[in-house]
Amino acid sequence: MRIPIIAGNWKMNNTLSQSIDLVKKIIEKYLREEVEVVLAVPFTSLYEVKKLLEGTKIKLAAQNMHWEDKGAFTGEISPLMLKEIGIDYCIIGHSERRQYFNERDETVNKKIKAALKHGIRPIVCVGETLEEREKNIHEDIVKNQVVKAFEGVDKDHIKDIVIAYEPIWAIGTGKTASSEEANKMCSLIREAIGHIYGEEAKNTIRIQYGGSVKPDNIKELMEKEEIDGALVGGASLNAEDFIDIVNY
Ligand code: PGA
Repeated sequence: MRIPIIAGNWKMNNTLSQSIDLVKKIIEKYLREEVEVVLAVPFTSLYEVKKLLEGTKIKLAAQNMHWEDKGAFTGEISPLMLKEIGIDYCIIGHSERRQYFNERDETVNKKIKAALKHGIRPIVCVGETLEEREKNIHEDIVKNQVVKAFEGVDKDHIKDIVIAYEPIWAIGTGKTASSEEANKMCSLIREAIGHIYGEEAKNTIRIQYGGSVKPDNIKELMEKEEIDGALVGGASLNAEDFIDIVNY
C-alpha cells in the first residue's frame, strides 16, 4: 500500500516570522494520520520550522539544493547543510527552476543522486508546457524527463523517491488538469518507472499531482488510482485551505 503524501510548496513566500505563524496554525489543527504531510519552506525558515515540527508527524522539505557537498558555488545550498538541519525531503526540478533558473534534466539527475547519498528524499517534478501539450508531445516529454532524471539511480532507492506530475499550464493558473487526465499522466509515469525498474518498483513509487490543487478538487484527485498525493502551491499558504486539503 502506498501512503498518501501531501506537500505544501511555499515557494518564495513567508519571511521567518510569517513561517513561524503559519506552521503554528497548521500544527494546532487536526491533520489526518494516514496522510504523510510535508512542508517545503524557504531556506531561511528551515531551521526554526524544524524546531517547531519536533514531536509532530509533519515532515520538512527544502525546495532546491546543489549537488556538491561544498565548494565555490556562491549563493548555493548543499545537501550537507540541509541534512544537518534535519530535512526529510527536497523538491528537485520544479518547473519554476527549470523555467527561470536553467535547471536541466542533467542537473536534476545529479541532485537526485546527491540527495539520496545524504538520506534526503527527493520529490522529483516533471511536467509539460502548454505548447508541448498542444503539439500533443506531452507524453513523450514527460516520459523523457523521467528517464533522464532516474539515469543511474539505484532500484533500492525507489521507495525513497516521490514524483510530482505538474503540468506547467496548471501551476498557479487556477486551471487544474481533469482528474482523469492527471490520473492518465501519473499512470504513464508509473509505466515508465516499471519499464526501467520492474513491477515492484512500479507499484511502490509514489506519484503526486500538482497544479492548482484546492480544497474543492483534492478529493476527486485522490480518488484516482494512480494519484498518491498532491504538491500544493498557492493553497498551502493559507492554513485553513491546506488543512482542508490534507483532511480531504
Ligand atoms: P499551485 O503550485 O498549487 O499554486 O498551482 C503548485 C506547484 O508549483 O507546486
